[in-house]
Amino acid sequence: MLFRFSLACILAGAARCLNAQQIVNGQIYTPGIAIVDSPQPNTPLGGDYLQVAIDVSSDGQLQLPPYGSNPKSAIWNITMFLSSYVTGWNFTISNGTASNGNGSLGELMQQEPGSTVKHVNWVWPDCLVGSGPPGNNDSARGLYNISIRQNFRLNGSDEYTIFDLPIHVTNSIPAQSNRPSCASLNNTLWNQSALADSANNFTRIPGTPIQGNGKTGAGGGLGGAGMLDWRTGVHVLWIGATLFMLAL
Ligand SMILES: *[C@@H]1O[C@H](CO)[C@@H](O)[C@H](O)[C@H]1NC(C)=O
Ligand SMILES: *[C@@H]1O[C@H](CO)[C@@H](O)[C@H](O)[C@H]1NC(C)=O
Ligand SMILES: *[C@@H]1O[C@H](CO)[C@@H](O)[C@H](O)[C@H]1NC(C)=O
Ligand SMILES: *[C@@H]1O[C@H](CO)[C@@H](O)[C@H](O)[C@H]1NC(C)=O
Ligand SMILES: *[C@@H]1O[C@H](CO)[C@@H](O)[C@H](O)[C@H]1NC(C)=O
Ligand SMILES: *[C@@H]1O[C@H](CO)[C@@H](O)[C@H](O)[C@H]1NC(C)=O
Ligand SMILES: *[C@@H]1O[C@H](CO)[C@@H](O)[C@H](O)[C@H]1NC(C)=O
Ligand SMILES: *[C@@H]1O[C@H](CO)[C@@H](O)[C@H](O)[C@H]1NC(C)=O
Ligand SMILES: *[C@@H]1O[C@H](CO)[C@@H](O)[C@H](O)[C@H]1NC(C)=O
Ligand SMILES: *[C@@H]1O[C@H](CO)[C@@H](O)[C@H](O)[C@H]1NC(C)=O
Repeated sequence: MLFRFSLACILAGAARCLNAQQIVNGQIYTPGIAIVDSPQPNTPLGGDYLQVAIDVSSDGQLQLPPYGSNPKSAIWNITMFLSSYVTGWNFTISNGTASNGNGSLGELMQQEPGSTVKHVNWVWPDCLVGSGPPGNNDSARGLYNISIRQNFRLNGSDEYTIFDLPIHVTNSIPAQSNRPSCASLNNTLWNQSALADSANNFTRIPGTPIQGNGKTGAGGGLGGAGMLDWRTGVHVLWIGATLFMLAL
């Protein structure tokens, strides 16, 4: 049984569905090529780092860069932010240029060359130190989106998409001297309609193939076995933050 994105879009009431997506056997299909392996939506997080694992080959369908000239499909770059309309912070996780001693990370597609899964390890900034849910209205802790932005080319079309993965910053984050200041990573928050206008309205149904770029590498060509690798698991409809975030 396959639930469609459009249903999630209607329920979420958002014109362009920045967060409605499908989860297939624990893998979160973004509106783009990348697949999020972890964390799962609405997970309580903390610890030393924020850790995010993304498969940039879409389970072996697309080869890693460097791509040949004029590829049919490619991920040009991925940026990531941790933002919250509740707390008013919008931190840079990666905008392509490392700064603050990796307080914000360099281009994610360039890290771990040869690995189809990129592991983001981002040191939580200082204002998130603490434990448990936010203690007062001025706390920086609480509800956030890991906002994943992909500049990519799929089947010959260039796209830019935004995918917001909701998390709860409610587990313990210990004080440490290597934590960057929150102010040094903060950016302006855009409203939802401005964000939707800035992005392409693109959905990707899990299981649809990606046109590759030739015969080299796993899934480099069109029609490889991996491309139609439908998992037999349950397809879970994820309606998104609006409903799940009600209970922190
Ligand atoms: C976005 O795409 C979906 C599916 O293709 C479509 O149903 C929807 O109307 C589109 N929304 C906008 C705002 O273009
Ligand atoms: C997360 O993003 C969704 C849209 O993608 C938005 O509706 C929600 O308010 C955001 N959550 C927070 C905590 O900012
Ligand atoms: C990402 O790729 C797009 C398309 O090639 C480009 O316009 C943009 O400047 C790149 N952004 C970063 C942060 O590298
Ligand atoms: C930042 O990360 C890169 C890639 O992991 C690493 O090569 C570099 O040494 C790091 N820089 C600092 C200051 O930690
Ligand atoms: C926190 O915010 C809520 C909702 O805006 C408000 O009702 C409450 O009085 C605030 N609490 C404090 C301590 O300011
Ligand atoms: C990237 O983010 C860092 C930290 O927020 C900021 O200092 C820097 O100016 C940003 N660079 C670009 C190219 O946006
Ligand atoms: C983050 O920076 C923006 C832009 O300067 C500012 O409007 C916002 O208040 C800052 N957030 C916090 C929590 O200080
Ligand atoms: C957070 O800041 C970045 C960099 O300025 C911006 O591209 C992004 O849209 C902002 N996120 C939100 C939710 O406004
Ligand atoms: C959203 O932001 C844009 C650009 O800053 C602005 O023109 C628009 O009025 C804002 N929309 C709402 C609903 O606040
Ligand atoms: C990409 O091309 C393949 C093969 O032609 C097709 O099955 C798939 O639906 C296309 N995907 C998109 C998003 O257009």
